[in-house]
Amino acid sequence: MKQAKFLVIGGAGYIGSHLVKALLAQQQQVIIVDNLSAGKASAILGGELITHDFEDRAFLDQLFKQHHFAGVFHFASQIVVSESVKNPGKYYRANTSATLTLLEALRDHQHIPLVFSSTAAVYGEPLYTPINEQHPTNAVNPYGRSKLMVEQMLADFANAHAQKYIALRYFNAAGADPLARIGEQHEPETHLIPLVLQAITGKRPPLQIFGEDYDTPDGTCIRDYIHVDDLASAHVLAMHHLINGGESGIFNLGNGLGYSVNDVIQTAIAVTGQDVPRSYVARRAGDPARLVADANLAKKVLGWQPKFSDLSIIIEHAWAWEKAQK
Ligand SMILES: NC(=O)c1ccc[n+]([C@@H]2O[C@H](COP(=O)([O-])OP(=O)(O)OC[C@H]3O[C@@H](n4cnc5c(N)ncnc54)[C@H](O)[C@@H]3O)[C@@H](O)[C@H]2O)c1
Repeated sequence: MKQAKFLVIGGAGYIGSHLVKALLAQQQQVIIVDNLSAGKASAILGGELITHDFEDRAFLDQLFKQHHFAGVFHFASQIVVSESVKNPGKYYRANTSATLTLLEALRDHQHIPLVFSSTAAVYGEPLYTPINEQHPTNAVNPYGRSKLMVEQMLADFANAHAQKYIALRYFNAAGADPLARIGEQHEPETHLIPLVLQAITGKRPPLQIFGEDYDTPDGTCIRDYIHVDDLASAHVLAMHHLINGGESGIFNLGNGLGYSVNDVIQTAIAVTGQDVPRSYVARRAGDPARLVADANLAKKVLGWQPKFSDLSIIIEHAWAWEKAQK
């Protein structure tokens, strides 16, 4: 991608910090806006951090006057599905309404292309797998709906104001920087791989496995794990596509490979050489048995190719990062 200045909103978080790393590797200029509500300044390997809420319209106006950005990446979000059920207002405000403020600021300043972090949660209970982008969207919780509404706003702003955008629907982000400089540090942590590894180290209690009676070969839920560096490379390609005049659109990002909870546990045991303290408990409401992506569109249109699709490598990188935390 040609050298330019990029804005990364939520760039101190797990996935955003890996995108910042990828942009820096291409010698791009990077400005990060993050309120550090969940992210950490230490996760930013370069660029300039502005610690601020992105939903502040006066702040955005000032920022867009001061800098000429070639593109904006928007990662900032509330991300805990169970919390979104209990406190939907927080999710519609932080994810949907705040993004509307950003879209209006973009409309009123330069027409800067936007790459937005969407989610597989927009699909809800799948009617078929692997799930392609034509699959109906039927989000089953406020988190998924708050993202789906942003996708709808993006289409409307594209239509009315020629806003260029790509929404990337990630499946399960996992892994860490291969050099273990940055990685996953959510609090609360709801993602399986860090929960498995932190059950091993004793940082968290034994793993609870929700349901072993699903209609899958071993009875546990199947998910599609995608390495965070592969997500980052897809963002760079998506922005490149828009800057070069490509069409706006929506793309799934996943490996197309499904691994069960038991597969993840067995792979973690093989990688770490240690057992995973664990117990099986009842199913949780709203967990589909199988979520696997068809990401062929991103491969075809963006030229994306995941580098780390092997689950062992994903877990090796996550494990190296866990050990680096001590
Ligand atoms: N992690 C996954 O598996 C996954 C899957 C699908 C989609 N996503 C989406 O990807 C994006 C990034 O996820 P993540 O796992 O890196 O989350 P994260 O919580 O690690 O990162 C989000 C970042 O945004 C910042 N932030 C939140 N609200 C802000 C605000 N109002 N102003 C400024 N900064 C703010 C946080 O401090 C944090 O650094 C989210 O939009 C999430 O919905 C993640």
